[in-house]
Amino acid sequence: MKEYLLETRGISKSFSTVRVLDGIDLKIRKGEVHALLGENGAGKSTLMKILTGVLEPDGGEILYEGKPLHIHHPREIYDYGIGIVYQEFNLLPDLTVAENIFIGREPALPLKGFINDRRLNREAASLLERLNCSSISPGRKVATLSVAQQQMVEIAKALSANCRLLIMDEPTAALTDSEIETLFDTIRRLKASGVAIIYISHRMSDLDAIVDRVTVLRDGKLISERSYDSTLKDLLIQEMVGRELNQKFPPRPDYKRGKMTLEVKGLNVADTLFDIQFQAYEGEILGIAGLMGAGRTELARAIFGAERITSGEILIDGVRKHITSPNKAIAEGIGYITEDRKKDGLMLEQTLRDNISAASLDQFSQNGFVKDHQVEAAAGEYIRKLRIKARGSGQLTKTLSGGNQQKVILARWLCRKSRILILDEPTRGIDVNAKYEIYELMHQLAGQGVTVIMISSELPEIIGMSDRVLVMCGGRITGELSAGELDQDKILRYAMPPIRRQDF
Ligand SMILES: Nc1ncnc2c1ncn2[C@@H]1O[C@H](COP(=O)(O)OP(=O)(O)OP(=O)(O)O)[C@@H](O)[C@H]1O
Ligand SMILES: [Mg+2]
Repeated sequence: MKEYLLETRGISKSFSTVRVLDGIDLKIRKGEVHALLGENGAGKSTLMKILTGVLEPDGGEILYEGKPLHIHHPREIYDYGIGIVYQEFNLLPDLTVAENIFIGREPALPLKGFINDRRLNREAASLLERLNCSSISPGRKVATLSVAQQQMVEIAKALSANCRLLIMDEPTAALTDSEIETLFDTIRRLKASGVAIIYISHRMSDLDAIVDRVTVLRDGKLISERSYDSTLKDLLIQEMVGRELNQKFPPRPDYKRGKMTLEVKGLNVADTLFDIQFQAYEGEILGIAGLMGAGRTELARAIFGAERITSGEILIDGVRKHITSPNKAIAEGIGYITEDRKKDGLMLEQTLRDNISAASLDQFSQNGFVKDHQVEAAAGEYIRKLRIKARGSGQLTKTLSGGNQQKVILARWLCRKSRILILDEPTRGIDVNAKYEIYELMHQLAGQGVTVIMISSELPEIIGMSDRVLVMCGGRITGELSAGELDQDKILRYAMPPIRRQDF
């Protein structure tokens, strides 16, 4: 009987001496959405790479539609109707959307040439339409797309005409709420047409909308497998973490607002930001809330010298500064951890040490020579503090799990010891346990007098962490709330455009 579409039996995998998967029996039924949960480094992506032939298991077997599955080259997955959206983006920025979607899939078809281009574009358009993304033109260069659009192209690439199993490794990490809704619609439609989906996500709030069954991995072992319902969340978290996690947010140590560090006056950026006015203080965690397109990231970029300011002033410690480039911002003590970490700044081929110290080399140098032992000590310190799961500071960054790679970027800016630190969606893609650690770290930083500015789309996070919140909508600051008055409704009321605001 072919009960399962896909079944793994005793899959194991080690990297050098470290075992990252230990006898995994994963069972996926036809047409179900199956969530695979686990902390950063639990082995989720490694297991998926084994299913798709990117990695060889050390032991165990895979059955697909009741028969042993042997994939020797990742390209062969399309023959089996398997598609995968990898956690890391794999698009080639200089090729078009259509070329990216079909690359490697039709080896016999030369990519260039008028007729093929037209055919490719037509087929790409129909896949994009299936995803409700007709606005992405197949002829556009991928480099010109937003991260969210690139994510949709990744999904289009994974979907083939006869797709029966679609694997999505953190597909929502780069998407905004409304894009996530579109993705869920797509997942529901695919499921209705009989496609099984393995869904990997750290956003527990994603699960209710789509998931049928759920498997938990912890430290390379399969902990549980069951059908999903929304009352199981606490239990699932407990299984992932291996202990009970009572609090989502650490208690805020006594907070006393210090002197003003940053002041923004009448700031405008053409077509995106209008008359922005606010202050931030030593030791404060200032949350910035808003819906997609509200201008939060643009504001961060403007302060960081990455947007051309058309008018207005930025003052630091009461002194007007001309921050015309990120380098100048860094010199003024401003750090910015971008939302777009996947593209941004991580040198995958280099060691953790190199990545962590990259923004602080001047602090570690004397007479033009980098003091290696200081770099080493700092890297070690942040690997410990952030509990980055790695064998040591000399490990190559690309061999870390996705969430741990994100912690490396965080470590880089912590290492820089910025006085004003802007965190744009700091916990996306990071597991519940590590989130808590990052929250604690934000408290510590604030305790040391750092001005922490946190942009987040997760309202609980904004409410749980901020001393004060600015709400943005349409490129303006539409509201300011102190910690005592924070609640979801109030934030949303300010975050909605005026027409919808009246409906409340
Ligand atoms: N090529 C490699 N060389 C050495 N270690 C590796 C390699 N690839 C993965 N690992 C290790 O295997 C473990 C599991 O990694 P994996 O990427 O599967 O985690 P994950 O569950 O997907 O985590 P995340 O939620 O952070 O994406 C990690 O400790 C990682 O460092
Ligand atoms: Mg992963």
